[in-house]
Amino acid sequence: MKAPALAGMLEEIRWGLSRPQKQLPSKYFYDTRGSELFEAITELPEYYPTRTETSLLKTQVAGWVTEMAPASLVELGAGSARKTRILLAAMGHGISERADQRTNQRTNQRTYAPVDVAGDFLRATAESLRVEDPSLDVRPQVRDITWDLDFVDELPTPVLFALLGSTIGNFAGEAAGELLSNVRSAMRENDLFLVGADLRPGAGKSIERLEAAYNDAQGVTADFNLNMLRALNRDAGTDFDLTAFRHRAFYDEGEGRIEMHLVAETDQEVQVPGAGVVQIGEGESIRTELSCKYDRSVLTGLFEAASLGIVKWCTDEDGLYAMALVSPT
Ligand code: TRP
Repeated sequence: MKAPALAGMLEEIRWGLSRPQKQLPSKYFYDTRGSELFEAITELPEYYPTRTETSLLKTQVAGWVTEMAPASLVELGAGSARKTRILLAAMGHGISERADQRTNQRTNQRTYAPVDVAGDFLRATAESLRVEDPSLDVRPQVRDITWDLDFVDELPTPVLFALLGSTIGNFAGEAAGELLSNVRSAMRENDLFLVGADLRPGAGKSIERLEAAYNDAQGVTADFNLNMLRALNRDAGTDFDLTAFRHRAFYDEGEGRIEMHLVAETDQEVQVPGAGVVQIGEGESIRTELSCKYDRSVLTGLFEAASLGIVKWCTDEDGLYAMALVSPT
């Protein structure tokens, strides 16, 4: 790791571990092993969001996408891009309807710009998509999705932005609004933005079912959570004892969110380079992730604050998960 990046990482760790509720930034989950573990999470029987979103993409969203006939797809937080193939196929079906807005020429060229912090994983995904479809113009962007999205100016229009996997929920408090505003500022008039969001418990969705999605029986989510400490030990030079922490995830009804923690089973002393020793007491926890849950009115308010309005909306029968297609207002 380059020196400025390491200094920044250590600063984030020092800051997080000095808070009353200790915390660590969730982006450090996604090293190569973490990205693979997350893929495994998406296939767990308890983890309904991926399966539900995939089914909504096929049965409802594909039709919306064919109708709008976007020339480019910008996927924010792309991961393995498995669900992307559904969107790309739907874009292909709309091609005869489309004329590029800048050149006014009819074209069947589709551009795919996946954006993710997990660089190696992103490049591997980009390569396999190129092999599958040589006519697809793939332009991977290794960056944080909260950064300037100026690369979008170079893409054929209209552009469909996609934020899938309930990633919006991992931006708590003001961060969600900031993320939406960041995307909004990269959008032009005819662009659209597709957002997948996990819903709050309700008639067809119990708190037990929601909590089980973050506490799977096989312990993959626990491995994923603990892997962050492994990544920090390797990349930041900390010395967390991986056997001394246990995974804990629970739903906070008041806040409408799942919290993910690592709980110290005994008193711990952790070396943080440049910051000396950090004490973590028995039973004390480090929060590693928040996953906010929504309903239509909460989401509508978030979108409105970012000058976006819902044009299409759907949920599954049980009200587990929602897809919203929004446009600039
Ligand atoms: N976006 C996913 C979610 O909030 C991320 C996620 C799923 C996750 N399972 C996790 C993050 C376990 C940390 C730990 O559902």
